[in-house]
Amino acid sequence: MLTADDRARIQSKARAAIDKATLRTDPWWAYPLSILGFLGIALVYSTWAGLQTSGYFAEPYISPLFSPCLAANCEHVTFRLLGPWFTLTPFLLVGWLPILFRMTCYYYRKAYYRAALMSPPACAVNEPAPRYNGETKLLIFQNLHRYFFYLMVVNMGFLAWDTFKAFQFEDGFHVNVGSLVFLVMIVTMSLYMLSCHSCRHAIGGHTNLFSKAPLRYRSWKFVSKLNKNHGPFAIASLFWIPITDIYVRLLAADVITDIRLF
Ligand code: FES
Repeated sequence: MLTADDRARIQSKARAAIDKATLRTDPWWAYPLSILGFLGIALVYSTWAGLQTSGYFAEPYISPLFSPCLAANCEHVTFRLLGPWFTLTPFLLVGWLPILFRMTCYYYRKAYYRAALMSPPACAVNEPAPRYNGETKLLIFQNLHRYFFYLMVVNMGFLAWDTFKAFQFEDGFHVNVGSLVFLVMIVTMSLYMLSCHSCRHAIGGHTNLFSKAPLRYRSWKFVSKLNKNHGPFAIASLFWIPITDIYVRLLAADVITDIRLF
């Protein structure tokens, strides 16, 4: 078995013998820098919003950051798992799952290893650290991704229900601007989930002969096509979750009106 020193020696030998960090002349830094900015803003906003104990529900909309809402102190209880003794923000009960799911996502792993840990910052660009400090330490934890995926499928059921409710008003079925905000949220989240590598494995794995499982094969081909765009879906869904939360908060604070389209 290789020791850490053996591994470092082999990896450092594999590096090209050039004294510059890179020979690239294109703006390779633009992508990791923009991803770092985007992830940073999403993280700061979600943390702030998650710590708020009110303003995340405006009939019939509940912020996806708080759904399902499981405690008695929820502004809108999905189902009551915890009684009045729980006085913290209900975000704590559900927010950990999407955070861990995205943290272990193959796309985000690439994104934050490049943008935040610079390990390496881009193709053919040397990392600033003297030795590789990437996936070796966290790899076992990151392999839990498939289990977070299964739990997220349950979470998606609640988000789909919230979207259905976003079209139900006291006077019946209508389409408001908020309904469309929720529709975009569930579509981007669904594309993100369906294009997940673990989804592809759940659908196409466990079978040796696709010829004996035609439905499985067709489904696997479908999600494989989506999988090619997993990165854009990851970004779009992460962008739209805070947008949906902001929309609900502005409605709850009476800053905006939910315009009826039909
Ligand atoms: Fe990105 Fe599964 S690989 S969500």
